[in-house]
Amino acid sequence: MRFSAIALLIAFSLTSCEKQNSPMQQEEAVQQALDPELPATPFSYSTQAFPEEWLTDPALQLFGNIGSEIEVTDAGATLGRVLFYDPSMSADGTVSCSSCHVQANAFSDSEAKSVGVSGVPTVRNAMGLFNFRYQRRFFWDMRTVGLAQQVLEPIAHPDEMALSIEEMPERLLEQPYYAPLFEAAFGSEEINSDRVASALAQFLMCMRSYSSRYDAGRSNGFANFSESERMGKDLFFNGETRCNQCHSGLNLFSTQPFVNGLEMDYAAAGDGGIGSISDDPYDDGRFKTVSLRNIGLTAPYMHDGRFATLHDVVDFYADGIQHHPYLDERLSVNGFGVPGQEPYQLSLSAEERSALVDFLNTFNDTLMTSSEWLSNPF
Ligand code: HEC
Ligand code: HEC
Repeated sequence: MRFSAIALLIAFSLTSCEKQNSPMQQEEAVQQALDPELPATPFSYSTQAFPEEWLTDPALQLFGNIGSEIEVTDAGATLGRVLFYDPSMSADGTVSCSSCHVQANAFSDSEAKSVGVSGVPTVRNAMGLFNFRYQRRFFWDMRTVGLAQQVLEPIAHPDEMALSIEEMPERLLEQPYYAPLFEAAFGSEEINSDRVASALAQFLMCMRSYSSRYDAGRSNGFANFSESERMGKDLFFNGETRCNQCHSGLNLFSTQPFVNGLEMDYAAAGDGGIGSISDDPYDDGRFKTVSLRNIGLTAPYMHDGRFATLHDVVDFYADGIQHHPYLDERLSVNGFGVPGQEPYQLSLSAEERSALVDFLNTFNDTLMTSSEWLSNPF
């Protein structure tokens, strides 16, 4: 994206210097800089699927295949890929989804707060994007239901892409490559916000992550693990740290939000999460329990990106959890039954903390982060 934005700027400045260029020539220069490079035969997005083990996993079935009503076609996801990486989707032509959701970082932002069109940083950290088949509610405060609803919000958001949804079809029409892409995806050239939302949602559905060293280890008795990674695995699952009681199952997540004790009073600290919407003290500091897949690639951490490294995260869980009236019971000394008790204190040695970090890094999926079919076509 950076490259194509720069190419666009260069194209603009070159053409505006050479006064004898006709508007037609100028337009050509811009288009040339921006044409997406797509394979002659589309990638086969529609045939990609989660492994059988995921599709039959009882816990994941319980959560439901809640995003699975989104039907992916090859042409639909191809259009979604172009839209995801296209800066012409923003008010000033400089910001795309991929400005804040970077493939190498599992589609998260390596900055704590992202900067879009307005230059005003976002309120929260841009988390990684993947495994939407198992998610229904989006954003750290889970305010938006449904992926096709979600994907239009950043386009219109004044600090993200700041393009009004009403203006969007006209804007996209300016790019000659869209007419054939919409035709292929939806049977006619018409551009409207429902189609844009559908195509983006289809592309996001193809961001699947299930192949990491951890997954390889699960099928070979963790023979591929170092001693430290094995120690970290035992700590993660041993029932004392309780990590896996919230970041659970194959997707290492929960559909439920929790208070993990970052603040004594989140609202006073500036962001109450779900509590900021419901105004109920019970929800103060309740945030989405994101998946730990790819966690080594998505620094910084937590809803506000407050922790720069996984070491900082582990130190926080070991001895930095704050008193909070609704601190989750899994993180309190009393355990189940009564939330809001004294935060637990894990007496983890330096070696154990490093081991936990080493284990968390085995969740990284370099297949997803290097797949060409998810990469920038510009
Ligand atoms: C300027 C940066 C920026 C841009 C541009 C941007 N996002 Fe985001 N995105 C964020 C931030 C920050 C969050 C978290 C916001 C929150 O939770 O309140 C987020 C959250 C999301 C989520 C929720 C994920 C989850 O697990 O709940 C999805 C999905 C998403 N973005 C998709 C997109 C798409 C699609 C586009 C392009 C149409 C896009 N984003 C453009 C910064 C950005
Ligand atoms: C009570 C449930 C719960 C338990 C137990 C728990 N977590 Fe979390 N975890 C959460 C929630 C909720 C968040 C998001 C909090 C926020 O951003 O405000 C989170 C965030 C994280 C993040 C940052 C994710 C990101 O993308 O920024 C990491 C890493 C993490 N937890 C690791 C662990 C580890 C390691 C353990 C065990 C020592 C653990 N968690 C135990 C609920 C839990």
